[in-house]
Amino acid sequence: MDPRHPDGEYSRAAKWFHWLTVPPILVLLLSGLTIRFMNDQVKMSFYTLHESLGLLMLALGLARLAWRLRNPPPPWPPGMPVFERVGASAVHHLLYALFIVQPLLGFFTTNAYGFPQRGATAFLGFIDLPRFMEAAPDLARTLHWSHSLAGWLLIPLLVAHVAGVLHHHVRVGDGTLMRML
Ligand code: HEM
Ligand code: HEM
Repeated sequence: MDPRHPDGEYSRAAKWFHWLTVPPILVLLLSGLTIRFMNDQVKMSFYTLHESLGLLMLALGLARLAWRLRNPPPPWPPGMPVFERVGASAVHHLLYALFIVQPLLGFFTTNAYGFPQRGATAFLGFIDLPRFMEAAPDLARTLHWSHSLAGWLLIPLLVAHVAGVLHHHVRVGDGTLMRML
């Protein structure tokens, strides 16, 4: 038994971090994928929402990673096959990486296009963020492409994550879901 997790569950802080992250990630994915279909009247509000929530997500992701590095999770449920442990661990690592890389790519994309968060798309709608580079269209396109790719990568990772949890909860019945509730 792990003395830090006598009940085999994630700690209270881990649960808070986990469930606080879920709504912003879903809103970011939905808003990012739909911005291009918005008409000009609502487009700027969508940019402000997406970019501001994305930067808040960066702060949350950094706090979560810093906390997690000092606080190991409970051991895997007994009997979980090695390949599932490796798979789940790989997905968790990639998710932690994307919490940080994805908002940075988005932020650098807007700056490289020459549209930092000022005026109509200021952070939270009213905080102008400093401009730190001149517009660089080629770099902007590469960053935009990387931000898109990472955004699309998040979707299969999340599907695999939730499918794995549900598989363990419903079919294996080893209480995996309850560890995070
Ligand atoms: C975890 C945080 C974030 C996630 C999950 C996310 C996700 C996405 C996704 C899925 C797209 C659509 C990509 C596509 O159409 O192929 C997108 C587009 C975009 N994101 Fe983000 N994003 C995040 C943070 C940010 C931040 C912090 C900024 C800027 C400060 C930003 C700026 C943009 C821009 C400018 C677009 C292009 C929108 C368009 O005109 O189509 N994102 N994002
Ligand atoms: C945006 C959606 C989600 C993200 C980004 C996410 C992310 C993560 C991450 C990074 C971990 C690893 C935690 C750690 O070891 O520190 C984790 C664990 C976990 N998540 Fe999620 N999650 C999401 C949605 C969900 C949903 C919808 C469920 C429930 C159906 C869920 C259930 C769990 C469970 C049970 C664990 C613990 C797995 C284990 O026992 O090791 N997650 N999640």
